[in-house]
Amino acid sequence: MDTQFTAEERERIKQGIRQKYAKVAAGPEGNFRYPTGRKGLEEQKYDPELIDSLPDNVAASYCGVGNPFRLGPINQGATVLDVGCGTGVDSLIAAVMVGPDGRVIGIDLTPDMVQRAKLNLGKTSLKNVRFLESSAENLSFPDETFDFVISNGVINLVADKAKAVREIFRVLKKNGKLMMADQILVGHRPGDTKSMVDTWAG
Ligand SMILES: C[S@@+](CC[C@H](N)C(=O)[O-])C[C@H]1O[C@@H](n2cnc3c(N)ncnc32)[C@H](O)[C@@H]1O
Repeated sequence: MDTQFTAEERERIKQGIRQKYAKVAAGPEGNFRYPTGRKGLEEQKYDPELIDSLPDNVAASYCGVGNPFRLGPINQGATVLDVGCGTGVDSLIAAVMVGPDGRVIGIDLTPDMVQRAKLNLGKTSLKNVRFLESSAENLSFPDETFDFVISNGVINLVADKAKAVREIFRVLKKNGKLMMADQILVGHRPGDTKSMVDTWAG
């Protein structure tokens, strides 16, 4: 169940995330307890051909926690939204999968991550991807826009998870598919909301 945060607490959580991920945009090394970059992609069993298709410094910026593409194929010509795209690695992989007739949009809360994703895109020849700054809780797309929504390591960071999930299903087409990977907390969470807010992006 979602914790009910005040508007001020939600804003502090978002500020904490923007601060942490501004650092991560420069390079994920040393910021996570799990493998990132090329090693992370290999451990999460991304298709080796797709890993090799990424420029080295693009693969190095990956900080996902799992592999949404293991949940099924993404077809040519599909429209895909990557929620919390970070530096855009999954968006770029999806763009190869959907081909020139498909289209991918990656959104992220942190402006530095969106900038890095655009820089990463510029290192490829892909023409079917766009990156925008936006929050998962307020997606600026009409209802039933996307065939697929992918997300990797993001919803655990969102203060209003129920709202984000409602938004995802609003923008998915009727037979659309959500493919997400995430972390869950096993065990006790901090008892009071102040500690939760203070440690949110830690
Ligand atoms: C662990 S990184 C994962 C990035 C990317 N999905 C990947 O696999 O490399 C988490 C990302 O979620 C973004 N994020 C956190 N809260 C968000 C929110 N409410 N809306 C959109 N993005 C958010 C962060 O800015 C960060 O880029």
